[in-house]
Amino acid sequence: MAKSSSILSSPITLLISFFISLATATNYYKSLSPALLGFQEEKFTHLHFYFHDVMEGPKASTVIVAEPNGKAENSLPFGTVVAMDDPLTIGPELDSKLVGKAQGIYAVISQDEMGLMMVMTWAFSEGEFNGSTLSILARNMIVSEPIREMPIVGGTGAFRFVRGYAQAKFYSVSFATGNAVVEYDVFAFHY
Ligand SMILES: *[C@@H]1O[C@H](CO)[C@@H](O)[C@H](O)[C@H]1NC(C)=O
Repeated sequence: MAKSSSILSSPITLLISFFISLATATNYYKSLSPALLGFQEEKFTHLHFYFHDVMEGPKASTVIVAEPNGKAENSLPFGTVVAMDDPLTIGPELDSKLVGKAQGIYAVISQDEMGLMMVMTWAFSEGEFNGSTLSILARNMIVSEPIREMPIVGGTGAFRFVRGYAQAKFYSVSFATGNAVVEYDVFAFHY
């Protein structure tokens, strides 16, 4: 009895039964209880951090990937594409504790006013959310809207099945260098 149960649960037996189940499957999906994967009670979390968009200087975290042809009237004309690897910190100072990185691109998408399309992932590296990410896809009208709201479109790790939004406002901005510190308040439902 003991012998046969150890044979039944051996990795090879499991692998064989897995392939048999694939071979005999009549469908490619099945309904599952969320609790089976550990999704039970939904949590609600507020995240607060500062985003540093450093365009110039020794700690620059952005690079202009593409600029439209022709003479630019301002430093970021319509059509400009910028890649970022921007630090997210706990306080407004760049040398305060790093909690993650904002990695992605933004593009200047309005001809009438200064507006950006943000396509970025926040990769957290501290505390409970170390290794988890949130993805943002949003229009960001940085001049006309003092507080910009952006939807969270997905997440990984602790943020699987996330639903939420972020609110962004300038903490400081230098029009000479383009360097900006943006304060983010994020509200998210997740498991
Ligand atoms: C975050 O996770 C990585 C990978 O598991 C680990 O190397 C690192 O030490 C963690 N950082 C903190 C601050 O816990």
